[in-house]
Amino acid sequence: MRVMVTGGAGYIGSVVTEELLRGGDEVVVYDSLYKGHREAVVEGATFVKGDLLDTALLRETLVQHKVEAVVHMAADSLVGESVKVPAKYYRNNVLGGLSLLDAMLGAEVKYLVFSSTAAVYGEPAKQPIEESNPTQPTNPYGETKLAFERALRWYDGAHGLKYVSLRYFNAAGATERSGERHDPETHLIPLVLQAATGQRPEVTIFGDDYPTLDGTCVRDYVHVVDLAQAHILALHALAKGHPSSIYNLGCGGEGYSVKQVIDCARRVTGREIPVRKGARRAGDPAVLIASSARIVRELGWRPTQQKLDAIVESAWRWMQRNR
Ligand code: UFG
Repeated sequence: MRVMVTGGAGYIGSVVTEELLRGGDEVVVYDSLYKGHREAVVEGATFVKGDLLDTALLRETLVQHKVEAVVHMAADSLVGESVKVPAKYYRNNVLGGLSLLDAMLGAEVKYLVFSSTAAVYGEPAKQPIEESNPTQPTNPYGETKLAFERALRWYDGAHGLKYVSLRYFNAAGATERSGERHDPETHLIPLVLQAATGQRPEVTIFGDDYPTLDGTCVRDYVHVVDLAQAHILALHALAKGHPSSIYNLGCGGEGYSVKQVIDCARRVTGREIPVRKGARRAGDPAVLIASSARIVRELGWRPTQQKLDAIVESAWRWMQRNR
């Protein structure tokens, strides 16, 4: 297929691009580079620098490259920032998304795979989280992702735009060429590995009084390549007539606590990782574990790297090569 990836110069977007190209699909990366990196755009993909709010350029790109489907990953994604600056999240995640849908309708592109998030569930009433759980976001990031997901349902009804929304849990790990590099970095695994290299003096544990096995928050870490594979399955299913759907994407199982992640990074790197106990971070649910049974059943998705050690090892190898 010919696929446009918005946000294809970002961490997950570059891995999705890699996997699409490897599978023989053609890729146009559309990215403003406001968070992404030009050098992260995978060789073999066409690159268009543009803003999501530029509907005319989006439409021209879709038409010119005869795009058949879109993977929409360009978004702002910092929970804390979203609480402080909601307007930015409504503008980029909702208005930006609607601009893309307008361009798609204009160019008659009918398939979309959307990067959604576990943040749509808010503080979950039960674990593991199923797609039918109530969606009650506790921050504008989750709220704006949910707003766009809901818009998709109505665009499907009115215009036959078929979509798959993938609610990511905690994406982690790296490929040989693509890894996680945010500025500022807020994610646990890269922060812990930066502490292992000495790039930062220590890691702060955000709260150790949660009702979990060791008092620290538990998350469901999923390898970025497994995540990328889910996008490819979704795209190809849509092209074969699969109905619009919403899927969780996590490895399931028991998940890993913040302390377990730090211990794992000590094992993998063989380095000291100094830690400091800090206060809870606002808006952090104690436990977020996905049930991914639906995507396993309906699309045949199978995560291949479920062990945290393998995920952290891949991130560590990438970080050592790209310091
Ligand atoms: N954490 C620390 N110290 C740090 C950084 C993180 O203890 O310095 C903890 C957090 O409190 C959390 C866990 O490590 O319990 C994981 O934190 P991340 O920031 O790596 O990831 P989140 O689970 O907060 O966020 C992820 C995605 C978001 C998404 C969210 C869904 O990155 O985009 O899951 O709730 F919104």
